[in-house]
Parts: sequence; C-alpha cells; structure tokens
Amino acid sequence: MGVLASGRGSNLQALIDAGQKSDFPAEVVLVLSDKKNSYALERASIAGLRHRHLAPKEEGFYLKLGDEIENCEIDLICCAGFMRILPPEFVSRFPGKIINIHPSLLPSFPGLHAQKKALDAGVTVTGCTVHFVDEGVDTGPIILQAAVPVLPHDDEVTLSERILGYEHRIYPLAVRLIAEGSVHCVDGVVQYSGNAHQEGSGFISPVSE
Ligand code: GRF
Repeated sequence: MGVLASGRGSNLQALIDAGQKSDFPAEVVLVLSDKKNSYALERASIAGLRHRHLAPKEEGFYLKLGDEIENCEIDLICCAGFMRILPPEFVSRFPGKIINIHPSLLPSFPGLHAQKKALDAGVTVTGCTVHFVDEGVDTGPIILQAAVPVLPHDDEVTLSERILGYEHRIYPLAVRLIAEGSVHCVDGVVQYSGNAHQEGSGFISPVSE
C-alpha cells in the first residue's frame, strides 16, 4: 500500500499496525504527504517506511505523486486524511486502485466537517465509510461501513473520536478484503466473493429499553 495523508495520521497508523501482523495480506511501503510537518510523515519515519513530502504548490504535483507511487510498484493507494480532491488525471492513472475513508455513512454528509453535519442534521446514527475513489467528492463505490450512535451530549470532538475508533477497525478490514481478492466493482457497485457477509443484529439508536 501507498498511503496519502495530510495530518495526524491515525488511520495511517492503523494500516501500518495491521500490515505488521504476519497474517495480514498487505503492508504499507510508502507514505506521501502534501504537508511538510504532518505527524503522518513522523509516523512513517518512526516505522522506518519510505516517506516523502511533495509541495502541492509546485508544478506537476499530481504527476510527481503518481510517479512516486509507480516507482514503488504500489498495488493499492489509501487516502487517509489526505485533504485534497484528487484530479481526474490522477484517478484515471490508477483505475480501481485508490480507496478513501470518510467519517460518515456515505452518501450522507460528504465533504469536510462530516461529523458536524451529522450533529446539525440531528441523526441518531452516523458512522464511517471506506470507498473507492472516483472523480467526485466522496462519491465512489462503497466497500465497507460501520454504524456509530450519536449520543445526546455529543459535540464534534466526542463524536469524531467515537467514529475514529471504528475507522481504525474498518480501514484495515477493507484493505484485507481487497488484498484477498474478495472485492469486485461491477457497474459502480461493490460485490463480494467469499464469506464477507454475516447476518447480524440491527442497530437501534437511541435504544428505548
Ligand atoms: C479521518 O476522520 C478520516 O476519516 C478523514 O480525515 C480524518 C483523518 O484522521 N478523511 P487521521 O489523520 O487518519 O488521524
């Protein structure tokens, strides 16, 4: 995996940690950031991973980003808090190979401040989504989602923290499914082969009794 990250990199860390387990079918080999002082780069350095800052203001930023990825023979590009909309020429250079994590149950609340949008909308369940990246903003085919309750006294910080805990679980899970060849995209919809689905209980929030 190559990971694109702009900030604190906690999802990057979840992917690094997963990749270090002997039974995990993928590993992070490259971390690229558009922010020179991002903690994501520090995490990559601590983990001994190849990492690089690329300045977004420089000409050919996305070309260089793509070249770095190609040079490392990356199979999967994971956006993990990468605060940029990937342009069509970058997305089409790596068809079906770019995924992203977003802190809402897409297609609800795409874009920035998804947790605040959920609070403002008064939903009682929100969550997080791993999806393939297409040319839109958080619009690509959905791979995996986790539902998270919104509690009465939540603010943006407490809700974000609760969702983040699930992000760290579903991002490695989605990578595993992809690496094992269980995920296929047909006409813009993800289909699974193998044993990905399990019947579970539903989720009511708030629970009245
Ligand atoms: C996460 O909430 C992710 O869903 C969103 O940006 C945040 C990044 O957090 N795209 P981190 O840098 O992985 O800690």
